Amino acid sequence: MPAAPSRRMLLAALAAPAVARAQPAWPTQSISLVIPFAPGGPTDAVARLMAESLGRDLGQNVVVENAAGGGGTIGALRVAQARPDGHTLLLHNIGMATAPALYRRLPYDPVADFECIGLITPVPMVWVARPDFPAREFAGAIAHIRRHREGVNLAHAGLGSGSQLCGTLLQAQLHAPMTAIVFRGTGPIYPELLANRVDLVCDQTTGAIPQIAGGKVHALAVASAQRLPQLPDVPTAAEAGLPGFEVTIWHGLYAPKGTPPAIIARANQALRASLADPRVVRRLGELGASPEPMERVTPAAHRAYLVSEIARWRPLLQAAGEYAD
Ligand code: MLT
Repeated sequence: MPAAPSRRMLLAALAAPAVARAQPAWPTQSISLVIPFAPGGPTDAVARLMAESLGRDLGQNVVVENAAGGGGTIGALRVAQARPDGHTLLLHNIGMATAPALYRRLPYDPVADFECIGLITPVPMVWVARPDFPAREFAGAIAHIRRHREGVNLAHAGLGSGSQLCGTLLQAQLHAPMTAIVFRGTGPIYPELLANRVDLVCDQTTGAIPQIAGGKVHALAVASAQRLPQLPDVPTAAEAGLPGFEVTIWHGLYAPKGTPPAIIARANQALRASLADPRVVRRLGELGASPEPMERVTPAAHRAYLVSEIARWRPLLQAAGEYAD
Protein backbone atom coordinates (compact mmCIF):
# COMPACT_ATOMS: atom_id res chain seq x y z
CA MET A 1 0.00 0.00 0.00
CA PRO A 2 1.53 3.38 -0.94
CA ALA A 3 2.52 5.54 2.01
CA ALA A 4 0.23 8.50 2.75
CA PRO A 5 1.75 11.78 1.56
CA SER A 6 3.49 13.67 4.33
CA ARG A 7 2.42 17.19 5.33
CA ARG A 8 5.63 18.51 3.73
CA MET A 9 4.86 16.79 0.39
CA LEU A 10 1.32 18.20 0.44
CA LEU A 11 2.61 21.71 1.09
CA ALA A 12 5.18 21.34 -1.71
CA ALA A 13 2.47 20.15 -4.12
CA LEU A 14 0.28 23.10 -3.20
CA ALA A 15 3.18 25.50 -3.66
CA ALA A 16 4.14 24.16 -7.11
CA PRO A 17 1.48 25.96 -9.19
CA ALA A 18 2.43 29.23 -7.51
CA VAL A 19 6.06 28.75 -8.55
CA ALA A 20 4.95 27.94 -12.10
CA ARG A 21 2.78 31.06 -12.16
CA ALA A 22 5.74 33.18 -11.02
CA GLN A 23 7.50 32.54 -14.36
CA PRO A 24 5.48 34.56 -16.88
CA ALA A 25 5.05 33.33 -20.44
CA TRP A 26 6.90 36.42 -21.56
CA PRO A 27 8.23 37.57 -23.92
CA THR A 28 6.22 35.76 -26.58
CA GLN A 29 7.41 38.04 -29.39
CA SER A 30 10.10 40.63 -30.02
CA ILE A 31 10.18 43.57 -27.63
CA SER A 32 10.11 47.14 -28.86
CA LEU A 33 12.53 49.23 -26.78
CA VAL A 34 11.45 52.82 -27.39
CA ILE A 35 14.01 55.54 -26.91
CA PRO A 36 12.73 59.09 -27.14
CA PHE A 37 15.74 60.59 -28.98
CA ALA A 38 17.31 60.35 -32.44
CA PRO A 39 19.73 57.62 -33.52
CA GLY A 40 23.44 58.25 -33.08
CA GLY A 41 23.17 59.92 -29.67
CA PRO A 42 23.95 58.86 -26.12
CA THR A 43 20.59 57.30 -25.23
CA ASP A 44 20.70 55.37 -28.48
CA ALA A 45 24.21 54.11 -27.60
CA VAL A 46 23.06 52.86 -24.18
CA ALA A 47 19.84 51.39 -25.58
CA ARG A 48 21.55 49.42 -28.36
CA LEU A 49 24.03 47.98 -25.88
CA MET A 50 21.24 47.01 -23.48
CA ALA A 51 18.97 45.69 -26.24
CA GLU A 52 21.53 43.15 -27.34
CA SER A 53 22.19 41.95 -23.82
CA LEU A 54 18.53 41.94 -22.71
CA GLY A 55 17.62 40.03 -25.87
CA ARG A 56 20.21 37.37 -25.10
CA ASP A 57 18.86 36.92 -21.58
CA LEU A 58 15.19 36.92 -22.61
CA GLY A 59 15.57 34.76 -25.73
CA GLN A 60 13.79 37.29 -27.95
CA ASN A 61 14.89 40.16 -30.14
CA VAL A 62 14.81 43.53 -28.43
CA VAL A 63 14.40 46.10 -31.18
CA VAL A 64 15.38 49.73 -30.56
CA GLU A 65 12.82 52.20 -31.89
CA ASN A 66 13.73 55.89 -31.98
CA ALA A 67 10.57 57.89 -31.30
CA ALA A 68 12.31 61.25 -31.18
CA GLY A 69 11.06 64.79 -30.59
CA GLY A 70 9.58 67.04 -27.95
CA GLY A 71 12.66 66.71 -25.72
CA GLY A 72 11.82 63.03 -25.12
CA THR A 73 8.12 63.49 -24.41
CA ILE A 74 6.87 62.00 -27.69
CA GLY A 75 8.51 58.61 -27.10
CA ALA A 76 7.53 58.57 -23.44
CA LEU A 77 3.87 59.23 -24.33
CA ARG A 78 3.97 56.44 -26.89
CA VAL A 79 4.98 53.94 -24.19
CA ALA A 80 2.53 55.34 -21.62
CA GLN A 81 -0.22 54.56 -24.15
CA ALA A 82 1.10 51.15 -25.23
CA ARG A 83 -0.53 47.84 -24.35
CA PRO A 84 0.83 46.84 -20.91
CA ASP A 85 1.98 43.37 -21.94
CA GLY A 86 5.75 43.84 -21.60
CA HIS A 87 6.37 43.98 -25.36
CA THR A 88 6.80 47.76 -25.41
CA LEU A 89 9.36 49.22 -23.01
CA LEU A 90 10.90 52.67 -22.63
CA LEU A 91 14.54 53.51 -22.00
CA HIS A 92 14.63 57.15 -20.99
CA ASN A 93 16.98 59.49 -19.20
CA ILE A 94 16.69 62.29 -16.64
CA GLY A 95 14.01 63.79 -18.91
CA MET A 96 11.44 61.67 -17.05
CA ALA A 97 12.16 63.89 -14.04
CA THR A 98 12.65 67.28 -15.70
CA ALA A 99 9.69 67.29 -18.11
CA PRO A 100 7.02 67.79 -15.38
CA ALA A 101 8.59 71.16 -14.51
CA LEU A 102 8.88 72.28 -18.14
CA TYR A 103 5.64 71.27 -19.87
CA ARG A 104 2.47 73.00 -18.82
CA ARG A 105 0.40 70.20 -20.37
CA LEU A 106 2.58 67.12 -20.15
CA PRO A 107 0.29 64.40 -21.55
CA TYR A 108 1.48 61.71 -19.14
CA ASP A 109 2.49 61.40 -15.50
CA PRO A 110 6.02 59.93 -15.23
CA VAL A 111 5.18 58.28 -11.90
CA ALA A 112 1.52 57.28 -12.29
CA ASP A 113 1.59 56.14 -15.94
CA PHE A 114 4.65 53.85 -15.85
CA GLU A 115 6.02 50.87 -14.02
CA CYS A 116 9.68 51.37 -13.06
CA ILE A 117 11.88 48.35 -13.82
CA GLY A 118 15.28 49.62 -12.65
CA LEU A 119 17.93 52.30 -13.01
CA ILE A 120 20.59 51.59 -15.64
CA THR A 121 23.57 53.94 -15.74
CA PRO A 122 24.66 57.37 -14.57
CA VAL A 123 26.53 59.28 -17.31
CA PRO A 124 28.70 62.38 -16.87
CA MET A 125 28.48 65.31 -19.27
CA VAL A 126 31.06 67.18 -21.30
CA TRP A 127 31.01 70.57 -23.02
CA VAL A 128 31.92 70.30 -26.69
CA ALA A 129 32.63 73.17 -29.11
CA ARG A 130 32.69 73.49 -32.89
CA PRO A 131 36.14 73.28 -34.50
CA ASP A 132 36.44 77.04 -35.10
CA PHE A 133 34.93 78.19 -31.79
CA PRO A 134 37.03 81.21 -30.73
CA ALA A 135 37.94 79.75 -27.32
CA ARG A 136 39.98 76.55 -26.88
CA GLU A 137 39.70 76.57 -23.05
CA PHE A 138 36.51 76.47 -20.96
CA ALA A 139 37.51 79.66 -19.10
CA GLY A 140 37.81 81.42 -22.48
CA ALA A 141 34.45 79.97 -23.55
CA ILE A 142 32.82 81.36 -20.39
CA ALA A 143 34.27 84.81 -21.11
CA HIS A 144 33.05 84.55 -24.72
CA ILE A 145 29.51 83.57 -23.59
CA ARG A 146 29.43 86.45 -21.08
CA ARG A 147 30.50 88.86 -23.77
CA HIS A 148 28.34 87.64 -26.66
CA ARG A 149 25.33 86.13 -24.81
CA GLU A 150 22.57 85.45 -27.43
CA GLY A 151 25.27 85.69 -30.09
CA VAL A 152 26.37 82.20 -28.99
CA ASN A 153 24.37 79.24 -30.31
CA LEU A 154 23.70 76.48 -27.80
CA ALA A 155 22.48 73.25 -29.40
CA HIS A 156 20.33 70.89 -27.32
CA ALA A 157 17.85 68.06 -27.66
CA GLY A 158 14.71 69.89 -26.58
CA LEU A 159 13.03 70.97 -23.36
CA GLY A 160 13.51 68.26 -20.80
CA SER A 161 16.58 66.68 -22.39
CA GLY A 162 19.87 66.28 -20.54
CA SER A 163 21.66 68.65 -22.89
CA GLN A 164 19.02 71.32 -22.28
CA LEU A 165 19.29 70.83 -18.50
CA CYS A 166 23.08 71.22 -18.62
CA GLY A 167 22.75 74.30 -20.83
CA THR A 168 20.11 75.83 -18.55
CA LEU A 169 22.33 75.36 -15.51
CA LEU A 170 25.28 77.05 -17.23
CA GLN A 171 23.21 79.99 -18.43
CA ALA A 172 21.74 80.41 -14.93
CA GLN A 173 25.18 80.30 -13.32
CA LEU A 174 26.62 82.82 -15.80
CA HIS A 175 23.46 84.97 -15.92
CA ALA A 176 23.99 84.89 -19.68
CA PRO A 177 21.29 83.57 -22.02
CA MET A 178 22.43 81.92 -25.24
CA THR A 179 20.38 81.24 -28.37
CA ALA A 180 18.98 77.71 -28.29
CA ILE A 181 19.03 75.59 -31.45
CA VAL A 182 16.83 72.55 -30.86
CA PHE A 183 17.39 69.07 -32.32
CA ARG A 184 15.63 65.72 -31.90
CA GLY A 185 18.60 64.32 -30.01
CA THR A 186 22.25 65.19 -29.59
CA GLY A 187 23.38 62.73 -32.31
CA PRO A 188 22.15 65.04 -35.11
CA ILE A 189 23.96 68.00 -33.53
CA TYR A 190 27.45 66.76 -34.47
CA PRO A 191 27.24 67.32 -38.25
CA GLU A 192 26.10 70.88 -37.46
CA LEU A 193 28.94 71.39 -34.97
CA LEU A 194 31.46 70.00 -37.45
CA ALA A 195 30.15 72.39 -40.10
CA ASN A 196 30.56 75.27 -37.61
CA ARG A 197 26.84 76.06 -37.80
CA VAL A 198 26.28 75.75 -34.03
CA ASP A 199 28.72 76.73 -31.30
CA LEU A 200 28.33 74.47 -28.29
CA VAL A 201 26.61 71.42 -26.88
CA CYS A 202 26.73 69.85 -23.43
CA ASP A 203 26.44 66.15 -24.21
CA GLN A 204 26.67 62.90 -22.32
CA THR A 205 30.03 61.16 -22.63
CA THR A 206 28.26 58.15 -24.13
CA GLY A 207 27.51 60.32 -27.16
CA ALA A 208 30.48 62.71 -27.05
CA ILE A 209 33.48 60.42 -26.51
CA PRO A 210 33.37 58.79 -29.98
CA GLN A 211 33.03 62.25 -31.53
CA ILE A 212 35.89 63.71 -29.48
CA ALA A 213 38.02 60.67 -30.35
CA GLY A 214 37.37 61.49 -34.03
CA GLY A 215 39.44 64.60 -33.33
CA LYS A 216 37.23 67.15 -35.07
CA VAL A 217 35.12 68.61 -32.26
CA HIS A 218 36.78 70.14 -29.23
CA ALA A 219 36.10 69.08 -25.62
CA LEU A 220 36.19 72.10 -23.29
CA ALA A 221 35.35 70.71 -19.84
CA VAL A 222 33.69 67.79 -18.09
CA ALA A 223 30.78 68.59 -15.77
CA SER A 224 31.95 66.09 -13.17
CA ALA A 225 33.77 66.30 -9.84
CA GLN A 226 36.90 64.60 -11.21
CA ARG A 227 38.53 64.36 -14.62
CA LEU A 228 37.49 61.23 -16.50
CA PRO A 229 40.05 58.52 -17.29
CA GLN A 230 38.62 58.36 -20.82
CA LEU A 231 39.26 62.11 -21.33
CA PRO A 232 42.35 62.71 -19.16
CA ASP A 233 43.31 66.00 -20.85
CA VAL A 234 39.89 67.60 -20.45
CA PRO A 235 39.62 69.73 -17.26
CA THR A 236 36.64 69.71 -14.94
CA ALA A 237 34.36 72.73 -15.03
CA ALA A 238 35.59 73.51 -11.50
CA GLU A 239 39.23 73.59 -12.66
CA ALA A 240 38.17 75.98 -15.39
CA GLY A 241 36.52 78.39 -12.95
CA LEU A 242 33.01 77.04 -12.28
CA PRO A 243 33.15 75.25 -8.91
CA GLY A 244 30.24 72.89 -8.28
CA PHE A 245 29.17 72.73 -11.91
CA GLU A 246 28.40 69.00 -12.03
CA VAL A 247 25.64 67.37 -14.06
CA THR A 248 25.05 63.63 -14.24
CA ILE A 249 22.39 62.13 -16.46
CA TRP A 250 20.72 58.89 -15.37
CA HIS A 251 18.72 56.33 -17.31
CA GLY A 252 15.91 53.99 -16.36
CA LEU A 253 13.86 51.20 -17.92
CA TYR A 254 10.05 51.53 -17.85
CA ALA A 255 6.93 49.63 -18.86
CA PRO A 256 3.41 51.01 -19.29
CA LYS A 257 1.35 51.19 -16.08
CA GLY A 258 -0.54 47.95 -15.49
CA THR A 259 2.15 45.63 -16.86
CA PRO A 260 1.83 42.47 -14.71
CA PRO A 261 4.21 42.31 -11.71
CA ALA A 262 5.63 38.95 -12.86
CA ILE A 263 6.73 40.57 -16.15
CA ILE A 264 8.26 43.53 -14.31
CA ALA A 265 10.14 41.07 -12.07
CA ARG A 266 11.44 39.08 -15.06
CA ALA A 267 12.42 42.27 -16.92
CA ASN A 268 14.26 43.45 -13.82
CA GLN A 269 16.08 40.10 -13.62
CA ALA A 270 17.17 40.49 -17.26
CA LEU A 271 18.25 44.10 -16.63
CA ARG A 272 20.38 43.04 -13.66
CA ALA A 273 21.96 40.25 -15.71
CA SER A 274 22.72 42.72 -18.52
CA LEU A 275 24.34 45.21 -16.15
CA ALA A 276 26.56 42.40 -14.82
CA ASP A 277 27.51 41.33 -18.37
CA PRO A 278 31.26 42.05 -18.81
CA ARG A 279 30.67 43.18 -22.41
CA VAL A 280 28.17 45.81 -21.22
CA VAL A 281 30.39 46.92 -18.34
CA ARG A 282 33.42 47.25 -20.64
CA ARG A 283 31.60 49.24 -23.33
CA LEU A 284 29.93 51.56 -20.81
CA GLY A 285 33.40 52.12 -19.33
CA GLU A 286 34.85 53.02 -22.74
CA LEU A 287 32.05 55.59 -23.07
CA GLY A 288 32.74 57.17 -19.66
CA ALA A 289 29.82 55.49 -17.86
CA SER A 290 29.24 52.54 -15.53
CA PRO A 291 26.31 50.34 -14.48
CA GLU A 292 24.25 51.55 -11.53
CA PRO A 293 25.05 49.68 -8.30
CA MET A 294 22.73 46.66 -8.04
CA GLU A 295 20.85 48.08 -5.04
CA ARG A 296 19.57 50.81 -7.39
CA VAL A 297 18.55 48.35 -10.09
CA THR A 298 15.19 47.55 -8.50
CA PRO A 299 11.69 48.85 -9.30
CA ALA A 300 11.37 50.36 -5.80
CA ALA A 301 14.74 52.15 -5.83
CA HIS A 302 14.09 53.41 -9.36
CA ARG A 303 10.66 54.76 -8.45
CA ALA A 304 11.91 56.45 -5.27
CA TYR A 305 14.76 58.09 -7.22
CA LEU A 306 12.42 59.28 -9.97
CA VAL A 307 10.12 60.88 -7.38
CA SER A 308 13.08 62.55 -5.63
CA GLU A 309 14.51 63.84 -8.93
CA ILE A 310 11.18 65.38 -9.96
CA ALA A 311 11.13 67.24 -6.63
CA ARG A 312 14.80 68.24 -6.97
CA TRP A 313 14.64 69.77 -10.44
CA ARG A 314 11.19 71.41 -10.34
CA PRO A 315 12.16 74.60 -8.43
CA LEU A 316 15.43 75.07 -10.33
CA LEU A 317 13.85 74.66 -13.75
CA GLN A 318 10.80 76.75 -12.91
CA ALA A 319 13.09 79.54 -11.71
CA ALA A 320 14.88 79.37 -15.08
CA GLY A 321 11.50 80.13 -16.65
CA GLU A 322 11.55 78.08 -19.89
CA TYR A 323 8.25 76.38 -20.66
CA ALA A 324 6.45 74.49 -23.39
CA ASP A 325 2.75 73.81 -23.66
C1 MLT B 1 20.11 61.81 -26.85
O1 MLT B 1 20.15 60.58 -26.81
O2 MLT B 1 20.05 62.42 -27.93
C2 MLT B 1 20.24 62.57 -25.57
O3 MLT B 1 20.06 61.75 -24.46
C3 MLT B 1 19.45 63.80 -25.55
C4 MLT B 1 19.66 64.56 -24.25
O4 MLT B 1 19.04 64.16 -23.25
O5 MLT B 1 20.38 65.53 -24.25
